[in-house]
Amino acid sequence: MPSLSKRVTITETSPHRVLVDLALELKLKGVDVISFHAGQPGLPPYSEALKELAKTLLEKPFQTSSYAPSRGYPRLRELISEDIKKYSGISVDPEKQVLVTIGGAEAITISLLTGLDHGDKVLLLAPTYSVYWGLTKLLGVGIEYCEQDVNNDFQPDPECIKEKITRVKAVLFESPGNPTSRVISEEIGKLLVDLAVDHGKWILFDEAYKHIYYEGSHVWIQKYPGAEETVISIDSFSKDLAIPGFRLGYLWGNEEFINQAAKVKGYLSISASNISQKLAMIYLEKGYKEKYLEQVIPEYRRRRDAAYNAVKKYLPEAKLIKPRAGMYLFPDISYYLRKLRMTDVEFAKDVALKKHVVFLPGSAFLPGTNRYVRITFVTEPPERIEEGIKRVRDYLVEKGVI
Ligand SMILES: Cc1ncc(COP(=O)(O)O)c(C=O)c1O
Repeated sequence: MPSLSKRVTITETSPHRVLVDLALELKLKGVDVISFHAGQPGLPPYSEALKELAKTLLEKPFQTSSYAPSRGYPRLRELISEDIKKYSGISVDPEKQVLVTIGGAEAITISLLTGLDHGDKVLLLAPTYSVYWGLTKLLGVGIEYCEQDVNNDFQPDPECIKEKITRVKAVLFESPGNPTSRVISEEIGKLLVDLAVDHGKWILFDEAYKHIYYEGSHVWIQKYPGAEETVISIDSFSKDLAIPGFRLGYLWGNEEFINQAAKVKGYLSISASNISQKLAMIYLEKGYKEKYLEQVIPEYRRRRDAAYNAVKKYLPEAKLIKPRAGMYLFPDISYYLRKLRMTDVEFAKDVALKKHVVFLPGSAFLPGTNRYVRITFVTEPPERIEEGIKRVRDYLVEKGVI
């Protein structure tokens, strides 16, 4: 067999995928798995929106199955621009400053390809989204990172940012965070934009969870002075419209950047799915997004509370923040891992196999660490959340650690 590319051989499979595959294997065997591993919404999408989409698909099969425009349907871009204005007050030209993509994932890839060359570096605020680590490797982009700590509400250290931003071409970060769920503070957000303006760096700002809030609201770093030149926003419809399988997201910001990004998009995937764009248009045009969020946020809040209280009750040595947004708890369980003499990956696998509770090891989000696990709290109802965390305690009791 001929050799494979260096870029694939140096990139390891994320522990994230290993646990997802294990959960699937157990489910296929008929095991009732308590799922804390998936990064996806826990309740189905808005049914009215799906009914209207099905009707459109049947009535206009040719139009809904054809290629869509490379930048995305003009009407969808208009609706996105209105949506941004409504929530942030920021005016965005739908023709020049918005690019519809295949999920936030493609928006991340395109933004890296557009803003950075092979050999450039990017600054990450770790622990951070597992895809950033592998994707940068695949693209030949180097990494600097500033580590965020649970004891400091997972806020990045300003001194670290000031030092490391000079060594990179861009900062790539998410708020609310995955896996930490932390919301970037206004002070750090402003500092990042100021530094990016002063040093001529891109800020690739991933706001996939911007509507998933339980207390407070999204920090729009795009409104700080100079942000229009430096901040490129990465967005997703996977979480707020609960349609991750439809694979739809968008990039918005600086006109020249979006122009070049549109060129990249044309070569990479031609266009985002036609039918998915129709669904997003239905959601936004009819106000279904708001109606859906009004339904699900109170339930997600109940689940957040159940998960937080259960970890406090059953795993008292874990250190964690109570998320104000997002979908994840990210407890530091180093106390238990030390006593178990296990890595986070070994622990996550063993609990999955023995207790049928699946969560993700923290090293998927900060390679080389052995401290955290990620627990998705939106995917199970409160009783099963409590049961799942209790089973983790049972495991630790059986191992003689508690
Ligand atoms: C921070 C962050 N950005 C982007 C994405 C990708 O989302 P999409 O499904 O839109 O590709 C995710 C998915 O979990 C995420 O957590």
